[in-house]
Amino acid sequence: MADTGNAAAFVEFERVQKSYDGETLVVKDLNLTMPKGEFLTMLGPSGSGKTTCLMMLAGFETATHGSIRLDGVSINNIPPHKRGIGMVFQNYALFPHMTVAENLSFPLEVRKIGKSDREAKVKRALDMVQMGAFGGRRPAQLSGGQQQRIALARALVFEPELVLMDEPLGALDKQLREHMQFEITNLAHSLGITVVYVTHDQTEALTMSDRVAVFDDGRIQQLDPPDVLYEEPKNSFVAQFIGENNTLEGVVKEINGDVCLVQLDDGELIDAKPVNVSKVGERTRVSIRPERVEFNKARLQPGAHTLKADVLEFIYMGDIFRTRLRVAGNDDFVVKTRNAPDQVRLEPGSQIEIGWLPSDCRALDAS
Ligand SMILES: Nc1ncnc2c1ncn2[C@@H]1O[C@H](COP(=O)(O)OP(=O)(O)OP(=O)(O)O)[C@@H](O)[C@H]1O
Ligand SMILES: [Mg+2]
Repeated sequence: MADTGNAAAFVEFERVQKSYDGETLVVKDLNLTMPKGEFLTMLGPSGSGKTTCLMMLAGFETATHGSIRLDGVSINNIPPHKRGIGMVFQNYALFPHMTVAENLSFPLEVRKIGKSDREAKVKRALDMVQMGAFGGRRPAQLSGGQQQRIALARALVFEPELVLMDEPLGALDKQLREHMQFEITNLAHSLGITVVYVTHDQTEALTMSDRVAVFDDGRIQQLDPPDVLYEEPKNSFVAQFIGENNTLEGVVKEINGDVCLVQLDDGELIDAKPVNVSKVGERTRVSIRPERVEFNKARLQPGAHTLKADVLEFIYMGDIFRTRLRVAGNDDFVVKTRNAPDQVRLEPGSQIEIGWLPSDCRALDAS
């Protein structure tokens, strides 16, 4: 068997492309290496190719080009019953003629696990999803969210080495969703299960994952741990897609190592960090998080460029204040401040000066 992969890699996508119709590529060039035990989330807009990647990894779709390996072996060479992959799909297909307990017992029977062991595992899995009292019901007698929880329990009950989950918490209310997020990550880490998780929900992706792969247009735009993704987006798409973000457009005037000077379209000058720009004269979109905007001058670096801003709206949100400003012609520039005892509440109608550390303001592609 061909083993051209990396020995430390458990899941590998190498230069994978996928076309369903022989014309358009829905996955364009996917390269991804996951060590055993990693919890990786694929996050991206609808149609960006996330489910397609899971289906190829599960062996239900074949890659048009490139190779996918599981523990060093091409997925095409592993028969389905030997893949040891647990799956929860967008449409949680439970066996309708079986009870909940039978649904969960089935993957254990296939694996020739004895009756008493089976019962203990089924009970544990049902308790985990808070469905212990529902073992005797059929799927049609459950709500959508309850069916989704059973599908999740069924994917985990045989303690697979790799679990693929496609929006497994979509039908649950906020509280149950947060409880399940916690349960899934805990269980995966304690059992050493490798997880590829798909979601639209960026908070879910950031809180659950070791690394997040941001998908767009059939490509991974950035693959990094949650904090790096949020604090160091590599391009405008990622900066906009993850978290709240302020953008201002302009032209690069100077680049000096870690700092560049940007002239905004209204003529004002600001300092930024050159991240995805390479030369003077290039158009750029600078990106700054609402919590990194400073209007307390004492907290800025000496000589920092500041901008005038009009206060448009003040929103009290309990723990934070969210203030909307007009900055360089942008009416949707948001500042977030913590509700601390000495915090200033900005008055709509007033004019202030804002600034930031150049390292917090990233000059990205104007795309
Ligand atoms: N079986 C199929 N035949 C033809 N085209 C398909 C098939 N499955 C998916 N596609 C197309 O491939 C592209 C990627 O689809 P995919 O389901 O992977 O997206 P996704 O990222 O999972 O989106 P969502 O977040 O909406 O679930 C879409 O344009 C979709 O229409
Ligand atoms: Mg999908």
